[in-house]
Amino acid sequence: MSAYATATVAAATSAPAAPCDAAQPLPVLGRDVSVPLVTGGEVTYAALDYAASAPALQRVWDDVAAYAPYYGSVHRGAGYLSQLSTDLFENSRADVAEFLGCRADDHVIFTRSTTDSLNLLAAALPRGTRVFVFETEHHASLLPWERRAAASDVTVSYLDAPRTPAQAVETLEKALAGREPYGPALVCVTGASNVTGEVWPVRELAAAAHAHGARIVLDAAQLAPHHPVDVAASDVDWVAFSGHKLYAPFGSGVLAGRRDWLLAAEPYLAGGGASRKVERRADGGVAVEWHESEARHEAGSPNVIGVYAIAAACKALTEAGFDALVEREQRLVARVREGLAEVPEVKVLSLFGDDAPRVGVISFVVAGWNSSHFAAALSAEYGIGVRDGLFCAHPLVRTLLGAEDDEVGECGAPEAAPGERSLNAIRVSFGAGTPDEHIDRFVTAVRELVTSGAKWDYRTEGGRCVPVSVSA
Ligand code: ALA
Repeated sequence: MSAYATATVAAATSAPAAPCDAAQPLPVLGRDVSVPLVTGGEVTYAALDYAASAPALQRVWDDVAAYAPYYGSVHRGAGYLSQLSTDLFENSRADVAEFLGCRADDHVIFTRSTTDSLNLLAAALPRGTRVFVFETEHHASLLPWERRAAASDVTVSYLDAPRTPAQAVETLEKALAGREPYGPALVCVTGASNVTGEVWPVRELAAAAHAHGARIVLDAAQLAPHHPVDVAASDVDWVAFSGHKLYAPFGSGVLAGRRDWLLAAEPYLAGGGASRKVERRADGGVAVEWHESEARHEAGSPNVIGVYAIAAACKALTEAGFDALVEREQRLVARVREGLAEVPEVKVLSLFGDDAPRVGVISFVVAGWNSSHFAAALSAEYGIGVRDGLFCAHPLVRTLLGAEDDEVGECGAPEAAPGERSLNAIRVSFGAGTPDEHIDRFVTAVRELVTSGAKWDYRTEGGRCVPVSVSA
């Protein structure tokens, strides 16, 4: 049954992706969607907010559509489609393990997102664990530890923002060397910043953590869509990422890595799927035996569509070839950075400086502009979607801006004078599906807005900047 079922879906799914041509983007959904401009007419939407949510790869959509008629329950049905769906779910686990370069005995647990994965790991920490986390993390990897600390004897040490990759390693070494008493410890580090796009020295941080008896979890939410991740080679203990940033926006995420802490912990959620045996106790209560596999932390009916989509994305990126994808993206990164460097009013935010390796995530401020106003004009006048604000990484953005608080200026307020400190930032982010034209349009738009100003009037509505005529 198993091989037959797998073959049925394999026959229905699309052919393997062709190797990526470094000159061309991978096909994504939405590439032909037009949006209205406030100044009149329509333009193809330029999705430049991949760091928040990347569009689905066409290949992922095709594979999901091919499987959808065969949809059935996972791990709980005798019927053919249940068997088939269970096979697909478990094969997806193996595909993700291969994509991540996991060790043979690692667990791959399907979650809802990076946030969910790191909350799961936080809940699974042994009592007394000391967590070390840089203040530069985005909230998904900054906040779960604090909550666990508030509820138990776990403690969290926040490390100051380093100004070079070497300083990151030194800061961690110093913090770990000073820890007392010696017990379980976890370091949480991002692979690539969701604000600056800068790549962190993961392998060196893992070596430092292990040298001091600590474990390390890699938040690969922003790294995995842009760069190969190799759990075994980089020697991280766990890795977390989200489907919606990896071209598979169907509601699933991943936590993969060492099984021991996960198996020793109470299930993340209590319910069917996580339980192996449930019976009434003599005292009238209920006794439960939990699974000693990934299922322990996957209670409830699994999101097989979301999981299959992630596996399809992993395969599509691997087949396209990361070398070509990285080469193409680096060309786009250089184009954006060179374009922004030609506009003196633009300041790009960076921790590690110009020479740091980075992915296609770039944040900046524009002297004389409120960032929300600038982002609204990019959208309304050029059809370009970026993100503005503090990017769910408030401490890092405030550090980079030198800001004291999170006040966000009203876009209708008088514009800040050139050189005046901005209170939030603008982020442009892109990846495997981004055509060159989107990058060129963005660079031109920045130059025109700075030189000639917005063509339209904007006002604040519900905390967002909007063109007056559209909402009035
Ligand atoms: N971390 C996500 C972002 O940077 C939410 O947009």
